[in-house]
Parts: sequence; C-alpha cells; structure tokens
Amino acid sequence: MVNWLPTLKTTTPEEGYDLAVKLARVAVKLTQPDADARDRLRPEYAEDSGALIAVSQVVATHFATVAVANGYWQD
Ligand code: HEM
Repeated sequence: MVNWLPTLKTTTPEEGYDLAVKLARVAVKLTQPDADARDRLRPEYAEDSGALIAVSQVVATHFATVAVANGYWQD
C-alpha cells in the first residue's frame, strides 16, 4: 500500500465520511492481511449488532479526526 493516504482533506463531509470508513478498514487489513481470513469473519460481524455498533464507533472516531483536519468544511 504505497501512498494510500496522501491527504486528510476532502471536498465534502460525505467524502470525509468515506475516508473515515477507509481508515477503519485499512486498520483491519493491516492487522489481518489474510483476505481469506477476513472473508471468513465477514458474515459473523455482518450479523452481530454489537460488532456493527463497534464498527460505527471506530468510524465515528476517524470521522472526528477528518472533520477537524478539514475545519468542519466551513469556508
Ligand atoms: C465489507 C466496513 C471490519 C471484513 C465491509 C463493508 C464495509 C466495511 C462498509 C461493505 C463494503 C461493500 O459492500 O462495498 C468495515 C469497518 C470495519 C470493518 C468500518 C471496522 C471498523 C471488518 C473486519 C473484518 C472485515 C474486522 C474481518 C476480519 C470484511 C469483508 C467484507 C467487508 C471480508 C466484504 C468485502 C467485499 O465485499 O468487498 N466492511 N469493516 N471487516 N468487511 Fe468490513
């Protein structure tokens, strides 16, 4: 993964949220590089409300960082 995060700046909050999701997913990919293992675990968390809430929390934390980096998209 070369230069996968060149900037935290995004044009819109929606793009910022997409970036937050990406940050969360990259952490999972780095900690479990085996794609087959991730594929096996996917159905479990997809049906686990607690895991999905945990996912939301991680993304919210990243979004808070991205929002600060973009000055809350205020001109
Ligand atoms: C799919 C987010 C944790 C494995 C997805 C999708 C999202 C997502 C948004 C749907 C993508 C799509 O349909 O295009 C996240 C976030 C995570 C997280 C934000 C953590 C905070 C994990 C973990 C695993 C995992 C822990 C397994 C170890 C997968 C797999 C898919 C998937 C295999 C299907 C990939 C695909 O359809 O292309 N994830 N996920 N994810 N996730 Fe996660």
